Order: sequence, then structure tokens, then C-alpha cells
Amino acid sequence: DKILWNDEIINEEDVKIGFEDRGYQFGDGIYEVIKIYNGNVFTATEHIDRLYASADKIQLVIPYTKDVMHKMLHELIETNEVENGHIYVQVTRGISPRQHNFPNPAVESVLTAYTKETTRPFAQLENGVKACFVEDIRWLRCDIKSLNLLGNVLAKQEAISKDCYEAIQHRGEIVTEGSSSNVYGIKDGVLYTHPVSNLILNGITRKVILDCCEEIGLKVVEEAFTKDQALAMDEMIMSSTNAEVMPIISLEGQLIGEGKRGEWTEKLQQAFEHKIP
Ligand code: PDD
Repeated sequence: DKILWNDEIINEEDVKIGFEDRGYQFGDGIYEVIKIYNGNVFTATEHIDRLYASADKIQLVIPYTKDVMHKMLHELIETNEVENGHIYVQVTRGISPRQHNFPNPAVESVLTAYTKETTRPFAQLENGVKACFVEDIRWLRCDIKSLNLLGNVLAKQEAISKDCYEAIQHRGEIVTEGSSSNVYGIKDGVLYTHPVSNLILNGITRKVILDCCEEIGLKVVEEAFTKDQALAMDEMIMSSTNAEVMPIISLEGQLIGEGKRGEWTEKLQQAFEHKIP
């Protein structure tokens, strides 16, 4: 497969990553993961808008217009003939001798993007997955899709070590989001999810799900819930670009509802399916 390196589509072997790249040394950059269904990119505009929004929040200048970015990513997908999978794109603050403050004068940012052919997680979407609680020790700008993912990495690893698919993070008693997903609870016909703030990533799949809720008549309350409330939910869901609308059927070894995919979850999955290009 070919790689997009800045504005060139080249062979993987020809990509040169600088050891003084600030992405490599500081995690000083931002990224996106965008899903491809049947050769079509899903919610590309939303992802590219969020990429530029993340860049703005860290004062990183992407030297291409959004239009050019769309064109370059589409060209890579076409070149690699991706049918089902995703495209990963990241932009770092560039290559410069190591010092914490921004390079002065500024240097060109470094863009890399690659595609991956994957299959959708059909078995988990039907059977649901297990989750556990992990204290949210991340910084206070979780709204930025930053390359700095150490908190998320440690949370996911803790979940995996407990034979769970996802870590449900909490700050004190308040559930925030997964290590790489947003989290929802459904109780008595109402869907609860943490409001968009600095404490969570404003997920694109989250937005699609909230639209689906409206379509199927599921009431939404964008209010945070506690760990105890989570355990008492009728249904729980996590969502991300790759996990889609994923049922959580057990939490901390305790069953959620009947310990299987719930009715609302299934309706949401169906509504989501209709939006797939
Ligand atoms: N993760 N919250 C966090 C911390 C995430 O890392 C992600 C996505 C989400 C869901 O966002 P979206 O629905 O826009 O994918 C929420 C990506 C896919 C990843 O890092 O692989």
C-alpha cells in the first residue's frame, strides 16, 4: 500500500520520519481515524473539520486547505483501492532540535496518512463486550484529538489485562468516556451520555448516534452519570469510528440488564446501518 507523506503519495519504504519529529518526541500533533465502507468514506467532512479544530487548539498550522486535505485523502483511498477499512491521518508540529517550546521560526508540519483494510466487528456488535472501570488520569483537554495517548493506552491495557474490551474511565464518581470510545447508558427509555466538554472527545460516531436516537424516538439526556448509575443501567453502549454502536453487556464482572444486547441498542444499530454509505 502507498502512504501519503505531506502532499506526496509514495511507497512505504520511501517515507522518512525524522528522529527529531515533535510528534515522535513529544506527541506534539493531532490525528483522525476515518472509516471506509464499500469504498466510500464515512463522515469525512466531520473528521476533517475536527482535525483542523484540534490543530487550532494547539496552534498547529496545517499547510493545506480542507479541500486539498479531502482530495489528498480520497486519492490515497483510491490508490490503495480500499473497500472496507479506515484511513489514519496525523499531523505533527514538524522536525526541529528538541526543545519544549514551539520551533521559532516555525517549521513545516509533517503529515502522514495510511489506509488499512479491516472487517467490521460483527460478532461483538451482536454479542456485546465486557468493560471495566479505570480511573481517568488524562489531562484536561480530552477534546483535542492529540497524539499524546499515554493515559488512553494505560487505560486500555488495564482493560485488556482484565479480559475486557474497553475501559470505562471515570473522574471520581463521574463516568467520562472509554479509552478510545464514547460511553452511553440507557435507563427507562432515556439515553444518557457525558455532555461535550473538555473532559471527552466530541465523537463523530456519538453525533451520528444522537441523530439515530431522534429517528427512533429514544430520548437523549446529555448529562454525566456516576459509576453506580452505570451499573444500574438497562443497557450500555460504547461507540467509535471502528467499534460503531457496540453493546456493553457486563461491567466490572456485573451484568448490564440481562447481559445481552438490549432492544434500544439493536434499534440504534439498525438506524446506524441505514446511514452507512
Ligand atoms: N478513537 N473518545 C476517545 C478517547 C477516542 O479515542 C475516540 C476515537 C472516541 C470516539 O470518536 P469517534 O466516534 O469520532 O471515532 C472517543 C479513535 C477511533 C482511535 O483513536 O482509534
